[in-house]
Amino acid sequence: MTRGYDSITKILEGVRGRLILSLLACLLFLATPFILVAGESSSSKKPLEKSFPSSEKCKRCHLRVFEEWEASAQSRSIVTAPFRVTLEQFLASSNEKDQAMCFRCHAPHILEYGDLLPRFIKEVQSKDPQMDGVGCPQCHLIQDVDMTSHPPMPTFQLGTTIFGGYDKAVQNLAHQSQKLDLYRESRFCVTCHDSLPETAQVAKGMPGWLGPWEKTKAESSGKPCQSCHMPEAIDESANGEKVRKVANHSFPGRFGKVRAEAVTLDFTTAVKGETSQVNVSINSLVPHNLPLPHPGWSRVVVDLSIFGKNLKKVYNEQRFYERVFGNGKGKETVFDFEAKKVLKDTLLKPEEMRVEEFTFPTPKDAPSMDVVVTLTYAPIHGPQDFLVKVEQEAALGQKDKAFQSVQIAQKKINVPLKK
Ligand code: HEC
Ligand code: HEC
Ligand code: HEC
Ligand code: HEC
Ligand code: HEC
Repeated sequence: MTRGYDSITKILEGVRGRLILSLLACLLFLATPFILVAGESSSSKKPLEKSFPSSEKCKRCHLRVFEEWEASAQSRSIVTAPFRVTLEQFLASSNEKDQAMCFRCHAPHILEYGDLLPRFIKEVQSKDPQMDGVGCPQCHLIQDVDMTSHPPMPTFQLGTTIFGGYDKAVQNLAHQSQKLDLYRESRFCVTCHDSLPETAQVAKGMPGWLGPWEKTKAESSGKPCQSCHMPEAIDESANGEKVRKVANHSFPGRFGKVRAEAVTLDFTTAVKGETSQVNVSINSLVPHNLPLPHPGWSRVVVDLSIFGKNLKKVYNEQRFYERVFGNGKGKETVFDFEAKKVLKDTLLKPEEMRVEEFTFPTPKDAPSMDVVVTLTYAPIHGPQDFLVKVEQEAALGQKDKAFQSVQIAQKKINVPLKK
């Protein structure tokens, strides 16, 4: 997303006189056409930009939050090559009435502006959308979440109030603030992290993405999604305001620090003459499935590698944690929007402890062997023509994040073989 900064923002970024600056920011803010302050909540009459202003508008006063968010996956929700390519594939095969489905979470203001669907699609196709997907207002105007539907349905209140989790947000000229408990609850997040909505194509009764998260130790001990994915910090919430407890907005997940706390990985080895055995125990510390099975190609790889004499790899075996979908013809597909059933589900379940047994030939003529167990997020996979398209669409080609595998955990030990 390359957006032109205006010169004022540049000045704001450069200088450190915080208090004066925030006053300045207020004034500048009021001088811009961004009218969060005015207007009643009659939503769809207003142009989209008025109801859901660009996150750039919030940046003027919330630089810290903006920069964290800008580095997050949420800020790229309608920008990535895999999204562009799968959206195209979905649009080509779905009923007209279902075509807004992907935007339901990737750019949820579609829920208020359904009539602008052609514009949403054009923005994605442009590769450099001017509108945000999951930007600040897309979250901070959510006033309630209805948990009775799947996925849970957010209600937006498009008016003068920004919702959040603070007891006593400082008064400011840009917007009124209101505290809602919702912002510290998992259901806020689950609205976009639960499941694909049913459409003519998406089969009824498909299992959700997270698994039974409500029943986990984390959830019942008062640790909602935010506690791990929006970790608490002490910083300023708006430029120049006094420091207080804030919530990190970089949404660490597949990338970022939180990964180190995903699993504990351990194993034992037993050498029995010609064959050896490794028992790997993987304990998920995560209160949801790992990986989450959307997009449909999500997969975690458990890799066992044995190195013998001169550190030569003498054995390798891989197992996958994934949900394998079957399409209408019963064939495997990585496109979950065409899934009619689940063919196989080896996802690591919430807080599950799994043991993997591997047997392999003991390396010959070696004084010892190195046993290495690695857990990684796999790169994107699927039909060749699909992968070629994604590569062509990605500015960085094969170097795009989608083609990288990401290590979650690794453990190695050296096992002596001679008595
Ligand atoms: C309006 C919908 C929406 C809401 C609400 C939402 N998310 Fe997301 N989130 C998304 C989308 C869409 C993506 C994927 C962006 C992409 O990569 O295309 C995402 C990505 C993420 C990621 C990164 C995933 C990865 O693979 O690393 C994390 C972590 C995350 N969200 C956590 C949360 C948490 C925690 C909350 C609640 C505070 C939340 N989300 C609320 C839509 C939402
Ligand atoms: C219920 C909400 C929801 C719907 C509907 C939805 N997604 Fe997603 N999507 C997400 C979330 C949340 C993530 C991040 C998942 C994660 O990392 O665990 C995501 C991630 C992705 C990714 C990988 C990240 C990226 O941007 O490259 C792709 C591709 C994607 N979605 C495509 C689609 C397509 C195409 C559709 C419509 C057929 C769709 N999604 C519908 C919520 C949704
Ligand atoms: C995916 C949803 C989501 C997005 C996107 C999002 N926020 Fe938040 N934000 C939250 C939630 C949830 C909280 C409350 C977290 C808590 O208290 O644990 C929060 C808290 C805040 C707070 C108060 C705490 C703090 O860290 O200062 C501010 C200010 C804020 N958000 C501003 C923004 C701005 C500005 C943007 C865009 C750059 C943004 N948010 C994007 C969900 C979101
Ligand atoms: C003119 C400056 C200014 C602008 C522009 C601005 N804010 Fe704020 N905002 C503030 C100040 C000041 C606070 C209070 C900070 C505090 O309490 O420490 C605040 C507080 C918040 C909070 C915390 C409220 C709560 O109850 O948790 C959220 C969330 C928030 N802003 C979101 C946004 C979003 C989203 C935008 C863009 C649509 C935005 N702000 C634009 C100045 C601004
Ligand atoms: C106890 C901490 C914890 C809580 C609570 C938690 N998660 Fe996670 N989550 C993690 C960790 C750790 C990872 C990273 C896994 C990895 O990289 O192997 C993760 C990964 C993710 C990812 C991206 C990775 C993927 O596999 O697609 C998303 C999206 C996500 N979590 C959403 C949520 C949502 C939504 C909730 C609330 C229902 C939640 N998380 C609650 C710890 C937590």
